Amino acid sequence: MTTTPKGLFIKTYGCQMNVYDSERMSDVLKPLGYFEVDSPDKAQLIVLNTCHIREKATEKVFSELGQIRRLKDEAGGDVTIAVAGCVAQAEGEEIIRRQPAVDLVVGPQSYHRLPEMLAKGSRSIEDRLETDFAVTEKFGAFSNLRNVKGPSAFLSVQEGCDKFCTFCVVPYTRGAEYSRSASDILNEAEGLVGQGVCELVLVGQNVNAWHGASPALVEGGGREQAEWDLGRLIRRLGQFEGLKRLRYTTSHPRDMNDSLIMAHREVDSLAPFLHLPVQSGSDLILKAMNRGHSVSDYLHIVDKVRRARPDMSFASDFIVGFPGETDADFEGTLSLVREVGFSQSYAFKYSPRPGTPASDMNGEVEESVKEERLSRLLSEISNQSRVFNLNTVGSKLQVLFTRKGKGEGQALGYSPHMQPVHVDGAEALIGGLCEVKIVAATGTSLTGQLVDKTNPGRADFIEART
Ligand code: SAH
Ligand code: SF4
Ligand code: F3S
Repeated sequence: MTTTPKGLFIKTYGCQMNVYDSERMSDVLKPLGYFEVDSPDKAQLIVLNTCHIREKATEKVFSELGQIRRLKDEAGGDVTIAVAGCVAQAEGEEIIRRQPAVDLVVGPQSYHRLPEMLAKGSRSIEDRLETDFAVTEKFGAFSNLRNVKGPSAFLSVQEGCDKFCTFCVVPYTRGAEYSRSASDILNEAEGLVGQGVCELVLVGQNVNAWHGASPALVEGGGREQAEWDLGRLIRRLGQFEGLKRLRYTTSHPRDMNDSLIMAHREVDSLAPFLHLPVQSGSDLILKAMNRGHSVSDYLHIVDKVRRARPDMSFASDFIVGFPGETDADFEGTLSLVREVGFSQSYAFKYSPRPGTPASDMNGEVEESVKEERLSRLLSEISNQSRVFNLNTVGSKLQVLFTRKGKGEGQALGYSPHMQPVHVDGAEALIGGLCEVKIVAATGTSLTGQLVDKTNPGRADFIEART
């Protein structure tokens, strides 16, 4: 195996699972001499880590591939193009047919096979396509040595989904729910904290469905509950010294159990922020979506979490124009939004996906109606964000500085509620968690002034995050 230095450019689409996977791909390719570069024209290997969630996301990939093909032609063909992620899983060989410049297609469970595929350099379709579901192997093959780039790191604890919402491709692209073992996760977390990470974001398609055998029982000792859930895992991580902030995303209402809710009261480092997608505020639509919960179940959970942690903020995802959605159903969504009061949210027009049950449902909603509902919902959501942000003016919040801001000497960080905060004169504090007084707010971000500078930043993080 050669180790001549070679440029690697990874472009990541889609969700936090893909962000995590891109980092791990970079890690497994490092021993082969690949180092990350900041533009595709400097790379010998270009990886598109793709998303299949909506039609637009998939189309973006093919248009990007067209541009990359031109780069490859200009370089006399001396560039390897790999398509990874959910489009790779869903479309497989079809990608090579549509864009012959693509050399490799590798699904989300097969990244550990990338070095082997590259080394082979074979032109046969079988050798260039890897879309098996081998999730245990995937995590087993990723070493715990991660190349940390900043103070905040994603840690994947769970993959796949068994919920089968009728609109969604994830159960098909990522396969069945799989939880990594608690001891694996704790080891990876320890390695990250040892490298200066002070915020961990536990990620999974349904992160709160995570469960695993207690590490104490695996090792044969202690009086422990046999099975850990996410709340228990968070309590353990909450004891890690140096780990100042914990988050988890994305959760499903059905898996929001009392153990996790109470962790919000008990674990100081657990951020008071919950991304809990509801999708719709109509029981009829929730049923047609196969969400497995009603509007009142959702409101009940929000209420319970708020009682456990009164300063909790909430975010959600919404889909408008699901087949059969009437004006009254949509009004239900608006009234749910008003009732909960979200700090931020995402809203999407329903996009029919091949192979999903909803794509065969009657009652298609006209594009112009979808547009109108989306813009009404977005304006409600952004009003709420503005109100939420304005309410933090005058308060003091802990801000974790992760990168340089636009202005000279400015740093950008995140509040416990995931609000971006710009602070002048804080550049040297990147990598640190500091108390900041919020002095101004817009609908999308805050401006603050430093109150204390007791947590110094880290020079290497400042370099990496320009
Ligand atoms: N696992 C997470 C998120 C999955 S995908 C969850 O269950 O909440 C992220 C978001 O994309 C979803 O919450 C949903 O709002 C949106 N989405 C998924 N499929 C979609 C589709 N076919 N059309 C439009 N939006 C979709
Ligand atoms: Fe998709 Fe539903 Fe699973 Fe979320 S819970 S990934 S929306 S099927
Ligand atoms: Fe997209 Fe796959 Fe994530 S479809 S949202 S990248 S799980």
